[in-house]
Amino acid sequence: MKRIGIAVLGLGWMGQAHSRSMLRIPSLFPDRSFQPELVVCADTEAERRERAVRDFGFARATADWTEAVAAPDVDAVWVTAPNMLHVPMIQAAAAAGKAIFSEKPIGGTPAQTVQAYAAAKAAGVLTGVGYNYLWSPLVLHARAMIAAGELGEITHYRGRFLSMYGSDEMGLLTWRFKLAEGGYGVSSDILSHSVSLAHALAGPITEVVGMQHTVITERPVPQGAASHYGRGTPGDPTGPVENEDFASMLCRFASGATGTFETSRTTIGPESQNAFEIYGTKGALAWNFERLNELQYYRHDPSSKETGWTTIFGGDRFPFHGAFVPGQANAIGFEDIVATEDLAFLEALATGGDFSPGFREAVDIVSVQQALITSWDSRRWESVVDLGAHA
Ligand SMILES: NC(=O)c1ccc[n+]([C@@H]2O[C@H](COP(=O)([O-])OP(=O)(O)OC[C@H]3O[C@@H](n4cnc5c(N)ncnc54)[C@H](O)[C@@H]3O)[C@@H](O)[C@H]2O)c1
Repeated sequence: MKRIGIAVLGLGWMGQAHSRSMLRIPSLFPDRSFQPELVVCADTEAERRERAVRDFGFARATADWTEAVAAPDVDAVWVTAPNMLHVPMIQAAAAAGKAIFSEKPIGGTPAQTVQAYAAAKAAGVLTGVGYNYLWSPLVLHARAMIAAGELGEITHYRGRFLSMYGSDEMGLLTWRFKLAEGGYGVSSDILSHSVSLAHALAGPITEVVGMQHTVITERPVPQGAASHYGRGTPGDPTGPVENEDFASMLCRFASGATGTFETSRTTIGPESQNAFEIYGTKGALAWNFERLNELQYYRHDPSSKETGWTTIFGGDRFPFHGAFVPGQANAIGFEDIVATEDLAFLEALATGGDFSPGFREAVDIVSVQQALITSWDSRRWESVVDLGAHA
């Protein structure tokens, strides 16, 4: 079995999720062709470096991510730090010839995603991006149903990612709300997830028009290390929110289908509603991450009176599900789909295979985002220009 030495850069929410994946992969997937080894974790917080070694079993930890990237016993680098660190980390990892799995959206602006893509392309290294929802077993099944023509011709797509992570006005002013650390707001952070699903299910988007809005304009400044689920207390100093809380767009796909998208971090009610509905001439499918283990299917049959939506429960008859739990309707969760994407990436690295979504697909997603951003100012429909064409 091929040994793959791993560096994780940033042991926050996603750094911990990916590190736990590496620990679980051997017991979940005995037929794999590699052995993951947690070699080094880089984090600027001393408490996280301690946890990396004590609780996650990394061989060592460092405050200097450049040291982790350059280490000769590291084959693959996981970039799980705040958005503005993605590009320098990826450029260094590419220059050192390491395979790179980066969390989305890669950088905080479309131009930064293109920079990262260009560096990895020039180095010829394997790349992957954390559009983890694509790895949900029922989303993979929806893709297979669409590819097999079960929905007929796709006519319309509705994507939304409505989250409550910024809905509390006492929620902390973490890096996600600042231009210099997070880049754009929800159009980078969560619309990117919606577009990744739309591209996979309905093909490329060719033109868009949209709007954006910042709902909560001031937030408490964190006192020390903070999660974006953390709260300040009344009287804390506050600072301005520098990017959008809400973004929406109308779009047209290359196929001729129409689409609508809504994303927000401040709406109250939908707690983590990353969802799609896709309509075709023969049927429709709907999925919502809040009900990860259910896929809704409408089969169009004009000869039947018993029409309506059917719920398909997740189970081990769908891709990867049985690695986590056998049987039908026994649920899997968020970190199980993260472990699945990590398995697929490491398998591609060990066997010399391809992995998608890689940095090229991330550029396709930010090309849509760039057209949307342009339309915020022009207040007109904008064509999607492939930002990766000359990278
Ligand atoms: N795919 C998903 O579902 C998903 C979910 C959440 C976040 N993300 C992405 O993951 C990335 C990280 O987000 P998060 O929520 O885990 O952030 P986080 O704030 O929880 O963690 C970031 C970590 O990076 C560390 N860090 C900061 N500066 C550093 C430096 N110079 N060197 C090394 N470490 C440093 C911090 O101390 C912290 O431990 C972002 O790009 C975000 O968009 C993806």
